[in-house]
Amino acid sequence: MSLLIKNGRIITASDDYIADIFIEGEIVKAIGKDLSVKADKEIDASGKLVFPGGIDPHVHLDMPFMGTFSSDSYETGTRAALFGGTTMVIDFILQTQGKSLQSALAEWRSRSDNNCVGDYSFHMAVTDFNDETKKEVRTMIEEEGITSFKTFMAYKGALMIDDRQMIGLMEEVKKCGGLINVHATNGDMIDYLIAKHRAEGKLSPLYHYLSQPEVTEAEASERFVDMANYTGCPGYIVHLTCEGALNAVRNATRRNQKIFVETCIQYLILDASLYEKNFEGAKWVMSPPLREKKDQQTLWAGINQGLVNVVATDHCPFMWEQKKMGEKDFSKIPNGHPAIENRMELLFSEGVAKGKITLNKYVEVACTNPAKIFGMFPKKGTIAVGSDADVVIFDPQEKHTLSAKTHHMNVDYSGYEGWEVTGKVKTVLLRGQVVIDDNKCLVEKGYGKFVKRNKVKQIV
Ligand code: URP
Ligand code: ZN
Ligand code: ZN
Repeated sequence: MSLLIKNGRIITASDDYIADIFIEGEIVKAIGKDLSVKADKEIDASGKLVFPGGIDPHVHLDMPFMGTFSSDSYETGTRAALFGGTTMVIDFILQTQGKSLQSALAEWRSRSDNNCVGDYSFHMAVTDFNDETKKEVRTMIEEEGITSFKTFMAYKGALMIDDRQMIGLMEEVKKCGGLINVHATNGDMIDYLIAKHRAEGKLSPLYHYLSQPEVTEAEASERFVDMANYTGCPGYIVHLTCEGALNAVRNATRRNQKIFVETCIQYLILDASLYEKNFEGAKWVMSPPLREKKDQQTLWAGINQGLVNVVATDHCPFMWEQKKMGEKDFSKIPNGHPAIENRMELLFSEGVAKGKITLNKYVEVACTNPAKIFGMFPKKGTIAVGSDADVVIFDPQEKHTLSAKTHHMNVDYSGYEGWEVTGKVKTVLLRGQVVIDDNKCLVEKGYGKFVKRNKVKQIV
């Protein structure tokens, strides 16, 4: 099967030009002006933007968490991602403390394999680093193609590791050619503040926010950056939200240390005033919480300064009934918010259409850098001869309104209900196959492939 996309405005992280793209099988075979090739199918992309499939490197699908499971399965979550122009996701495996990484991998594959509509990979969250786990790091990298290891500096008792384990893991991961991801917030300090608020009868979602002040994130980020510098291990801070935390990264650049930084779409466009809506604020109970307007400005600037490398979602949806587990106590509200389908359109609308970032920057942070940092470039994350034909055809003018009534995520509310966005995903290709067209998904679960990733190269 061959396909010709004609006359689109092709945007990569570095280029912007009008040309045709010829695809054979799963791969881009030629790019050029007025290509004289015969294809089985032609798509006219005149007047449209054509950019690489989005990569969301931070999602939680069908994940056991806080006494329940996130509500999107691998099928519904990856399908919703495709509708929103994201052709690949990286999900998180959580090791159970006391058990092996291999057993966690087997458990996660039992839920994900043959169920994904879009392509996927995993980060491995190490929640119990010991002599046995240490031996599994190399196997994960060299045999399973899982090259990034997630650590939590919070969620004590279930997920958090201490600094001693962190240093040990960093040394091993560095030796084996991997990368450490971190949820960088000070878990002990947060647990103290949660307990204090509960004891004072302060139980509404607002106190979720007040239990995780900026200093809890700034302190942990700085500590993580210092440990990464000491061990020489490549580090990636997930869901960074605020000025204090970004300053820790900024300071590290003065000693020529590179730390990769991810923020999420919600931290760029929503703020903490949403927690003042009484229990409705539970829709945005996530960790870290939404911050202030000044932090949004810092994050947009951080993208343009090259300090923030990736815009992800931390998609971790829960039905309203699940959120109500914390109706009487904010600490029992499952943490997380749905956005896997909305990221590419919101980032275009709020970032590119409003003049905060360029089109090239948009592709860089939503498609190319995730592929580079996580060892998939140039197979994924760009439009180039030899790359997977993961392509989004996008109308930059079309306006539409986000709503739970029309989205495809398995969650009964939207964090963006009624938002008018400029720009719409029209057609999506994944490995040469048209997977989304005219608001319909044209492939079934099982089409999505597990992507084995390469060792980390510091090229961003
Ligand atoms: O609130 C969040 N972020 N839920 C998912 C787990 C995590 O910390 O990333
Ligand atoms: Zn986290
Ligand atoms: Zn997360």
